[in-house]
Amino acid sequence: MSNDPLTDRQHPNRTGFVRRHLTAFATLLSIFACLGGLAGLWIIAHGVSARDQPTVIEKVLARTLRHLAIPLENRRINNPLPLTPELLALGRMHWADHCATCHGNDGRGQTEIGRNLYPKAPDMTLWATQKLTDGEMLAIIRNGIRLTGMPAWGDASGHDDTQNWELIHFIRHLPKVTQEELGQMKAMNPVSPMERKEEQQEDAFLNGSDATDSPHPSAVKKKEKP
Ligand code: HEC
Repeated sequence: MSNDPLTDRQHPNRTGFVRRHLTAFATLLSIFACLGGLAGLWIIAHGVSARDQPTVIEKVLARTLRHLAIPLENRRINNPLPLTPELLALGRMHWADHCATCHGNDGRGQTEIGRNLYPKAPDMTLWATQKLTDGEMLAIIRNGIRLTGMPAWGDASGHDDTQNWELIHFIRHLPKVTQEELGQMKAMNPVSPMERKEEQQEDAFLNGSDATDSPHPSAVKKKEKP
């Protein structure tokens, strides 16, 4: 047994150690509280409009966290599908049908929805997207990206990623997509009943038929699909 009459907790050295660290802990807490408060004030002052551009800090932080959240072994996976014209065409059609609403047929994100989200749909022809590994793209497409407009796609169990791999072939092809391909994709873009009606009216007008009770479609602003 120790002869020291003081218990461990009462010992002057030990008490000093705890007090020193308590002070450091309290200082750290106050700094975090101040930063949180400042961030809160900044949000209140700037509002929460989706029209704003994310700041550089937000962009770097979000991308770094996303990168770290995808395990290394998943990032290392390569596209198992061979790059054939048939699979590329399937990926292109799938893209036109499911992804182009936000990303645009050309992948530059210049659509009504894509450029008004927060964060915006990125220009996927650029290096920032093209440098993502196949595995990283797969994780993003399969799981989506939390707190952004990017939804999760495909088979949730991850048993069949065929369509996602086809899409990844097409994303790699985006920087060299041709005008001819873009033309074919336009025909694959989803069309709302309202837009279909407008197209029918436009066709009827061009064919000389006046069987329309609505204003001429050229008076109605068309949805953009680059
Ligand atoms: C409702 C809008 C929307 C749709 C539809 C959509 N995305 Fe996205 N996507 C986004 C947004 C917004 C981002 C940017 C998220 C961010 O900044 O973290 C994004 C990011 C991505 C990225 C990461 C790019 C990068 O550089 O960070 C990939 C890959 C992607 N989308 C693929 C797809 C595919 C494939 C489809 C269709 C199957 C699709 N997206 C459909 C909104 C959408």
